[in-house]
Amino acid sequence: MALPPPLSAKDEKSFAYETIKDRLPLIVTRIVDFLARHRTNFAKQYGEDAENECKSCISAMDKLRYEIARDKPILLLNDNHTDDIHIWNEYLQKEMDQGKVISWFQSNWLLVECYMYRKIAEAFNLTAHLQHVDPFIEMKQHTFYSSVQAIDVVLAQLNIDIEQTTDPVNNKSTIEQQFYNYMEISLWGNQCDLSLSGGANRSQEHDPFHQITELKTHILINHETSLFNYLYDQQAYLLNFDVCIDFVLDNAGFELLTDLCFADFLISKRLCSRITLHLKCFPWFVSDATKTDFDWLLEQLSNSSSNSVWQIASKRWQQHIQNGQWIIQTHRFFTLPYDYSYMQQISSELYCTMSQSKLIIFKGDLNYRKLVGDLRWPLNERFETALRGFQPTSFVVLRTCKADVQVDIDLKVGQEITKIDPRWMVNGKWAVIQAFFKKQT
Ligand code: F6P
Ligand code: MG
Repeated sequence: MALPPPLSAKDEKSFAYETIKDRLPLIVTRIVDFLARHRTNFAKQYGEDAENECKSCISAMDKLRYEIARDKPILLLNDNHTDDIHIWNEYLQKEMDQGKVISWFQSNWLLVECYMYRKIAEAFNLTAHLQHVDPFIEMKQHTFYSSVQAIDVVLAQLNIDIEQTTDPVNNKSTIEQQFYNYMEISLWGNQCDLSLSGGANRSQEHDPFHQITELKTHILINHETSLFNYLYDQQAYLLNFDVCIDFVLDNAGFELLTDLCFADFLISKRLCSRITLHLKCFPWFVSDATKTDFDWLLEQLSNSSSNSVWQIASKRWQQHIQNGQWIIQTHRFFTLPYDYSYMQQISSELYCTMSQSKLIIFKGDLNYRKLVGDLRWPLNERFETALRGFQPTSFVVLRTCKADVQVDIDLKVGQEITKIDPRWMVNGKWAVIQAFFKKQT
């Protein structure tokens, strides 16, 4: 089957064009600002060499910004001490061997946007003292603390819902309603990513429980009922079935908190018995959660001596980790330029373990783009077709729409939404809970 062309900034009317022209340079500028503010701190902490290394990172960022703006060709990466570099360079080399010049505005949006974050990592990897510096850390931590009221509300209710001993057999409808609540809170948490805003603060200002009611009509595809029934039918609550879920997390801060609330709910109500939480290996798309962000969040909850609601939740979460019900993982596949249809070929062991799960939960817009290959599919294309063979197990994507690709929407419905909101595909105000159920063989 001939595939549609990839999204690309070649099309000047596209969101890809807007992103590469305006959003990416802004993100790089914010890194320069971060480095300039911390230069003397680095010197104090790690010595004079660190200050020079900081200057070299600033120069690398200036160069990157210049190259994006001038649509310069993309070159191979150069930090030979990381284990993903050969995969990256093989990918780039293959494209180059086909005579293609890869450049910011002419090539695939997905590739060049991923490359930018890997290129930022390269600048830090090439230093001796700043390898572990995350240039987005302040932004991520700031959005968490600017959402404290919403965090209080969600955690207080979660603690009540979990402490309530509801026998899953006789209280199916209560658990079902709560499942929708935590799933939708996690879904809308995805509005708080910092890539769309170019790094500007995106806090949660509303009561999330009110918000989900108001936003119900903004969920364009909603498979939550089938999902609940699918999970409930696995009967993890009978304790004799091992029901595993893979949760591919997205952004740190408020979104991560909502994802962990959902993961806690699934475990505590025994809708599954184990969840693998996938985090990123290095700073990615501004706000994606790394292991450091995850640890930091748990630390904030447990250190809040004046806030018992936070502490109660954090104790439960620590327990999930200690007793092996939450498994924390970072895998390099999630920061490679490949879309999901290549997972089996590129990271077969990851594909194999994910295949053994009953469900994968993919969070966020970038995961959606990678599932459908970031191609210009017609709006009414079938999801299964757009997946191009990626079927390790059943899965769902919880995504607020922030890129000009979407499938499985009737063309007439698409026209109606466009009349209401011409930027519905990219402004993050609309969402999908889109599931794929693997046929049993
Ligand atoms: O820069 C905009 C953007 O790249 C989206 O198009 C992208 O998919 C998004 O940022 C990141 O969103 P999320 O954190 O939901 O994956
Ligand atoms: Mg993200």
